[in-house]
Amino acid sequence: MANNNIILTGFMGSGKTTLGLRLSYRLRLPFLDTDNLIVQKAGMSIPEIFETQGEAAFRQMETELLKELRERTGRYIISTGGGTPLREENREALKQLGTVVLFRVSPEEVWNRIGKDKNRPLLQCDDPQQRIRDLLAERTPKYEAAADLIIDVDGKEFAEVLQILEDNFS
Ligand code: S3P
Repeated sequence: MANNNIILTGFMGSGKTTLGLRLSYRLRLPFLDTDNLIVQKAGMSIPEIFETQGEAAFRQMETELLKELRERTGRYIISTGGGTPLREENREALKQLGTVVLFRVSPEEVWNRIGKDKNRPLLQCDDPQQRIRDLLAERTPKYEAAADLIIDVDGKEFAEVLQILEDNFS
């Protein structure tokens, strides 16, 4: 794969998939979503992978997928899972694949957007609100370390974020 892809990173609910699809349409570049590619390969949903194989196996699938993406040709918009930049080797792989964008989001905004979403196994616990705060506190330095461009998305409409992306990538 070429090294000039546009990689979208950020916490669950930060808008990676929605904005990635819209940007793909605007820039006329194909769209890939790492979660979807993993689901296709595994033949089961993300909650099923977590339940039957565990989080560690899912993390390994993410790392392997990033290696495979390097073999593809063409330029893509790539939306990643919220945990993809956590491993150092993944951060390096992301940087090699292209320009890494971080959608930075507050715990309150995440809670409003996806707090009750059953498709996020990490949030199926007694206190998902606290879980979001803890995960974000732990992950933010890693997200920022991987990012070439940081966009604060709290309080912004998708159209506004899309415009920032277009200004940077057109
Ligand atoms: C995860 C985020 C999810 C998915 C999995 C784990 C995480 O992706 O990869 O549930 O660790 O934050 P989204 O960010 O697309 O929800």
